Amino acid sequence: MATRRAKISIIGAGNVGATCAHWAAAKELGDIVVLDIPDKEGMARAKMLDLACCAPIERFDASIVGTSDYKDIVGSDVVVITAGLPRKPGMSRDDLIQTNVKIVKSVAGQVAEHAPESIIIVVSNPLDAMVYTAWKASGFDTHRIVGQAGALDVARFKTFLSMALECSVEDISTLLLGGHGDDMVPLPRLTSVHGIPIADLLDEATITACVDRTKQGGGEIVKLQGTSAWYAPASGTIQMVEAIVKDKKRIIPCAAYCEDEFGVAPGQKGQGYFIGVPAVLGAGGVERVVDFKLVGEEVELMNESISHVKDLVGVVRTMFPELA
Ligand code: NAI
Ligand code: 2OP
Repeated sequence: MATRRAKISIIGAGNVGATCAHWAAAKELGDIVVLDIPDKEGMARAKMLDLACCAPIERFDASIVGTSDYKDIVGSDVVVITAGLPRKPGMSRDDLIQTNVKIVKSVAGQVAEHAPESIIIVVSNPLDAMVYTAWKASGFDTHRIVGQAGALDVARFKTFLSMALECSVEDISTLLLGGHGDDMVPLPRLTSVHGIPIADLLDEATITACVDRTKQGGGEIVKLQGTSAWYAPASGTIQMVEAIVKDKKRIIPCAAYCEDEFGVAPGQKGQGYFIGVPAVLGAGGVERVVDFKLVGEEVELMNESISHVKDLVGVVRTMFPELA
């Protein structure tokens, strides 16, 4: 019996959104809809027509549509929200909060109306506050809202380690926690090359340099080109989409809802926060958060990061009381 292709909708046809469509098509993950505002419908349609014409060369079958009409996202399994302003030089991710809350709030409301069964992956920045915004605005269960950050940040960490080690990225295993800001928490203790601890292979100064470059990885690109990155952010997002549409149950660090987990909001039912933690991603969305014991300075670093996420969400609640 024929099975239906997955349907992946992407809101925002800019750099990250269009590149998400590119990776999703190249991996033949399903049918793709990319939606932008009416003023940019022409751009969305043009980019998707262009991408569709790669199919005979790259050998994928998919319906690929650019639109500004939310009716086109009906039946989506996954909706990726990339709508919003990106950073410019000198801006932090947090500087985007006022504009992007309004955009993500309106987009998430439309997604809830037109694709009420979907799983939402939020990419817009400041990420940790935007996941919260999408949660409140959509009314979705927490397991159907997740943010992309860790997939990208851990990929950057592996990339910088592989440059230092002069070995394949494929042989490196690592993990990273916390918010998508400069206080994210790469974990050298849990970093190895086929189980060989990284501390046995690189000196402390080199490991620290890789950690610091990872934390500043987004900013390094903004400084170079005047706007934020898109290839790796889209690649990380589509890694999450693939885990969901193929029900792979992959454990990927991402902004998932936590209460007791990692001591985020112990015992505070319904009052938790979305924070970067390892989560099992499958057909059910965030199927489980993988909680584990942090040690030494990791505890303090994670608490600092959690506290920054709480402050950011506090700003959203103050500016937009309807989202409190
Ligand atoms: P971009 O400016 O290239 O594209 C954003 C698109 O969103 C534009 O085409 C714009 O017209 C559209 N848009 C704005 N309001 C909309 C609405 N109400 N409905 C539908 N579409 C709307 O920006 P880019 O580079 O694609 O970045 C998008 C967002 O992703 C930014 O907030 C950026 O900071 C964030 N980002 C997050 C990353 C992460 O790891 N979480 C990594 C890279 C970027
Ligand atoms: C990045 O990390 C700006 O969040 C974006 O590249």
